[in-house]
Amino acid sequence: MSELTRMKCTPCRGGEPTLTDKEILELLPQVPEWEVVERDGVKRLERVFKFTNFLESLIFTYRVGQLAEEEGHHPVLTTEWGRVKVSWWTHKIKGLHRNDFIMAAKTDRLYIRFKAEENIDAERVLRVIMSKREIRKYVDREVPEEVIYKILEAGRLAGSAKNRQPWHFILIREKQNLEGLARFGDFASHLQEAAFAVVILIPDTYVQDRFDAGRAAQNMMLAASALGVGSCPITLHRQEEAKKFLNVPPELNICVCIAFGYSAGEKPRGKVIRKPLNEILHYERYGEKIKPF
Ligand SMILES: Cc1cc2nc3c(=O)[nH]c(=O)nc-3n(C[C@H](O)[C@H](O)[C@H](O)COP(=O)(O)O)c2cc1C
Repeated sequence: MSELTRMKCTPCRGGEPTLTDKEILELLPQVPEWEVVERDGVKRLERVFKFTNFLESLIFTYRVGQLAEEEGHHPVLTTEWGRVKVSWWTHKIKGLHRNDFIMAAKTDRLYIRFKAEENIDAERVLRVIMSKREIRKYVDREVPEEVIYKILEAGRLAGSAKNRQPWHFILIREKQNLEGLARFGDFASHLQEAAFAVVILIPDTYVQDRFDAGRAAQNMMLAASALGVGSCPITLHRQEEAKKFLNVPPELNICVCIAFGYSAGEKPRGKVIRKPLNEILHYERYGEKIKPF
């Protein structure tokens, strides 16, 4: 990291000379991604920072703004979708001052930290995915509407073959309905204690309908985990009776039911038992077991 990041801006009262071309060339290697541009006869330091959406650009803009306030030196910021252009120069002397290089280096450091946060986010997402266990014991506590809404949205936004979105979701929150539904599965007693359930219906008319419903189901369960809500898929073995109970039209089938609720703190059943990767992974052709990792 550039030495400049350890320096503080010195107050500039005007009347000081701007940096000479020689001084600029000496400082520039410390902020190699910045360009010296001249606009209206005034030299500036400019760099465009890239992001993946507008919100990130906006947050970065805000953070540069905070840095500017702390140092008492302010840039011009141009915020767009996926990019923020930062321009540093010293208005009072109409050109570049050492302060501008200090601020450029500090902006670089801010960007590096901002990007590192993305990795932390990725770690959190991976943790949610990899630590998902089925939760079958729930506390007697309602899940707020907005949390349920987010879980349903996560299901709705799942991709599907040919974008058919073949699913319908039935949201069940009434205790008597949860209890009623529990009768139709062989391993569904925990449905009675759930805060709510979602039944996913599909027409079963296309080869990928069940895969698509699985994607929606997993989206909902992972969103729930991220929001601190436990879940467990449930098979309704007596499908026709369950359909009747739920008023499902004949052209739709029940793919799966998912029970949701805040965990009663009970440890999930046993250890995670999953087949080792080497047992299920084949390289290029079935049966090839050369291990590259
Ligand atoms: C399609 C599907 C149907 C399931 N049906 C039931 C069920 O009826 N009752 C139940 O208790 N668990 C059910 N499960 C949960 C599985 O038993 C569970 O995912 C598996 O044993 C792994 O559990 P673990 O993550 O706790 O190790 C179902 C899971 C899937 C994917």
